[in-house]
Amino acid sequence: MNDKDPAGLDRRTLIKSAGVAALGLATTAYAATPRKRFAVVGLGSRARMFTSAITGKFREANELVAVSDNNAGRLALAVKTVSATGASKPKGYQAAEFDRMIRETKPDTVIVTTPDATHDDYIVRALDAGCNVITEKPMTTTAEKAQRILDACKRNDRHVRVTFNYRYSPPRTQIKDMLMNNDIGEVLSVDFNWLLNTVHGADYFRRWHSHKATSGGLMIHKATHHFDLVNWWLGAQPQSVVAVGERQFYTPTMARRMGLKSHHQRCRTCPEKSACNFYFDLAGDPGLKALYLDNEQHDGYFRDQCVWRPEIDIEDTMNVVVRYDTGTTLSYSLNAFNSWEGYHIAFNGTKGRIEHTVVEQAGVAGADETQGKIKDDGVSTRIIPLRGAPREIEPWTGTGGHGGGDDVMLTEIFGDAPADKYKRASDERGGAYSILIGVAANQCFKTGQSVRIDELVTGLTPPERAPMPSRTASLPMPMRVKMP
Ligand SMILES: NC(=O)c1ccc[n+]([C@@H]2O[C@H](COP(=O)([O-])OP(=O)(O)OC[C@H]3O[C@@H](n4cnc5c(N)ncnc54)[C@H](O)[C@@H]3O)[C@@H](O)[C@H]2O)c1
Repeated sequence: MNDKDPAGLDRRTLIKSAGVAALGLATTAYAATPRKRFAVVGLGSRARMFTSAITGKFREANELVAVSDNNAGRLALAVKTVSATGASKPKGYQAAEFDRMIRETKPDTVIVTTPDATHDDYIVRALDAGCNVITEKPMTTTAEKAQRILDACKRNDRHVRVTFNYRYSPPRTQIKDMLMNNDIGEVLSVDFNWLLNTVHGADYFRRWHSHKATSGGLMIHKATHHFDLVNWWLGAQPQSVVAVGERQFYTPTMARRMGLKSHHQRCRTCPEKSACNFYFDLAGDPGLKALYLDNEQHDGYFRDQCVWRPEIDIEDTMNVVVRYDTGTTLSYSLNAFNSWEGYHIAFNGTKGRIEHTVVEQAGVAGADETQGKIKDDGVSTRIIPLRGAPREIEPWTGTGGHGGGDDVMLTEIFGDAPADKYKRASDERGGAYSILIGVAANQCFKTGQSVRIDELVTGLTPPERAPMPSRTASLPMPMRVKMP
């Protein structure tokens, strides 16, 4: 990777050979090397994964030089918490001082973990100031904002890294491995159903995510992960999208059908809290309290808004059909009010079908618990050949957040990972192709008209992909079976 790699992953000065490590000299070698300088903007729940990695496991080679937020309380909390590790002493800056922060602290890389619709502004400003950028998903929320990022990347001759942690989750990497190995031949269509339960799913309707202007809705905020997985699994680019989406569950009408008199502003002051099955106690988790409740006076943001509010403008019931440039089709659904959380996916290939199910242990973001953990025995994967018996596949496993993906990805970003044959690191092109499916779906929700991806932005080229089975490979006739 070159000096301008998105994650600042240049290894130019890092002396780390097996021989050095074997002699126990690795620490000395690191200490003699300048640490990579990071700044983080947006100090909520997700930022902690990055700040903990920089000041914890990867502290020898990385340093957090600055942090920024528009909430003075969360900013002070982050400065205090990070400084207490002894690994970094970041300077704190108000969000309005972002450019000054870069000028004064000279980070190599800026990490963007603000709400989705604000990513583009920080990405473009950091790129124009000469920094590498790592951004959380979704890269951004609209086609116009995606265009700004694509143009800034071109102008600065840099790529932005988009942290699609789901790609790194071992069972999902295993699916990529099976597809690359030609286990079911070429994939002609995909059936994909993602379910959010009423713990994690409902939580989107309490927070800033409940407004399209901030999150792009679940087609962008959440489905960006899922569309990216399919784009990456297939090694293909989406071409056109049709979709329908509704808000049918988290509505004032549903509140009344559940026996409540009305919707209210927030759970904390709700007069019907004892009657509502969706009551959420923001003070009940020490992590959530410290991050949000104790800092409300700085920005007036309530993290426990009523899920039945009429002003919510995101959908909870969505169906999407995507056509890819390879001819493969995707049929996808997302529902945010289910009894369990996870997904079913099936890849229909020229030699057979992969069926893959994951059950997640969903919680609420920011709480003191692992996010997006896979349930014990929650993965099932099988190959069903066109002819012959199905085979159960032993799933690859991992531990930690987001199906074990977070830890693998962090090692690639901050540590020393070998070259990746699955090409899991995503840049702005993968980020754009993923959100543009959501943008197209949002557009289609309103117009009912199919949307072409290449009409949404200009200058978007396919990202580097791992080689996939060829469309033109010969297919030996499968063994004959007796037809009924
Ligand atoms: N990859 C994943 O699995 C994953 C998981 C969770 C969140 N995320 C992403 O991480 C990002 C942050 O999400 P979160 O859950 O931490 O949200 P959050 O609400 O907990 O934190 C957002 C932080 O940004 C600050 N902020 C708001 N507007 C700002 C602005 N204009 N400038 C500077 N700071 C601002 C807020 O004060 C808050 O501290 C989102 O883009 C989200 O999609 C990704």
